Amino acid sequence: MSDPDSMKRAAAARAAGLVRDGMRLGLGTGSTARHFVDLVGGLVRDGMRLACVPTSEQTRRQAEALGVPVTTLDDVVELDLTVDGADEVDGALNLIKGAGGALLREKIVAAASRRMIVIADAGKRVETLGAFPLPIEVVRFGVAATRRRIEGAAAGVGCSGELVLRRASDGDAYVTDEGHFILDARFRRIPDPAALAAALSGAPGVVEHGLFIGLCAGAIVASTTGVDILGSLE
Ligand code: 5RP
Repeated sequence: MSDPDSMKRAAAARAAGLVRDGMRLGLGTGSTARHFVDLVGGLVRDGMRLACVPTSEQTRRQAEALGVPVTTLDDVVELDLTVDGADEVDGALNLIKGAGGALLREKIVAAASRRMIVIADAGKRVETLGAFPLPIEVVRFGVAATRRRIEGAAAGVGCSGELVLRRASDGDAYVTDEGHFILDARFRRIPDPAALAAALSGAPGVVEHGLFIGLCAGAIVASTTGVDILGSLE
């Protein structure tokens, strides 16, 4: 495994080995999760019965095209397992997620799951979160005021940096599946992820942020030398 894509595929293959007949499964979003969804398609073709909740419209379209049975958290309120990618993973299994813009649904699905497992290439493993910009999903109303409030809340827990409004490829503001904007926070270093998560959650206008604290049970991290397991996959 020399390139990130084969590492992503290897991590996804290890996670596919956790899927059992009859499971209610959360399907993540992004290029690593895409490999996992492809493999789930193969399991379904081989006769496995699954009920799957996608974390984005993009993943829903992929799953449906593969014939994977798709449902919603209104019909299935608890999931057995969710497998998703991440932008950063630290040693305590705290995550930054949301580069793909799906952090809100991803967090709802992870929280509804008995187990959330992250699949990633080794480039995602960090000592301290924050080099990757932290996505913060905000309502469209009053973005400038929300930005200022986020800056104040973050400064109170030792984080500062530019908050950049995410843009789509056509130059317009990027709009999430739930109709919100995203501010990408370039904090560079997040000394206390739990404190920042709490501070951001209390800011009016913030819908959700990409810090996943205490949600991930285990991570499958593939490198050039093989696959490492952090935490527990059970
Ligand atoms: C999408 C996410 C993705 O899981 C995260 O960005 C990782 O993506 P990739 O597997 O493409 O590196 O959080 O919102």
